Amino acid sequence: MPNPNVPLGAGAKPDSQADAVIAAHAGAPGGLLTILEKLQELNRHKYLPIETLKYVAQKTGTPLSQVYSVATFYSFFNLEAQGDHTVCICRGTACHARGSRNLLNNTKLMLGITERDSEKVSVTTPDKHFTVRTVACFGQCALAPVVEVDREIYGRMNERELRKVVGKIGE
Ligand code: FES
Repeated sequence: MPNPNVPLGAGAKPDSQADAVIAAHAGAPGGLLTILEKLQELNRHKYLPIETLKYVAQKTGTPLSQVYSVATFYSFFNLEAQGDHTVCICRGTACHARGSRNLLNNTKLMLGITERDSEKVSVTTPDKHFTVRTVACFGQCALAPVVEVDREIYGRMNERELRKVVGKIGE
């Protein structure tokens, strides 16, 4: 019986759930992808700690390097803990031309994230309340600059409006 505190990392659901997911999908076509997807969903902070990757490798008999490759290839997998809320700012050309860098920097400033000038793709506040991410293009360039907050898309965003939307979540 695996140690419930080790394999899935902080914020994870009990191991029995992980074992059930692995048992249901191991060996099936695309099974590894499904397992990782479901385990990330089960994790309270929506990520795949290294312990989880090791656990999956061990339980499915897959080399850890292969599990790691899958987890790092697809952008929807997170290797770091995610916040309860996500602000995703488009950094594509159209959005950049319409001020998305300022939106990004001001959002980070507002949330107390100090690495304002960094173009790091994902950064989470220490209290894990917010994650600020960037994306290459939402495919809605006509609405630039585009921002997604908790999966809701906002077009022609400006700093004042974004501050209002993010502020409401933080209340
Ligand atoms: S560049 Fe931002 S939506 Fe396309």
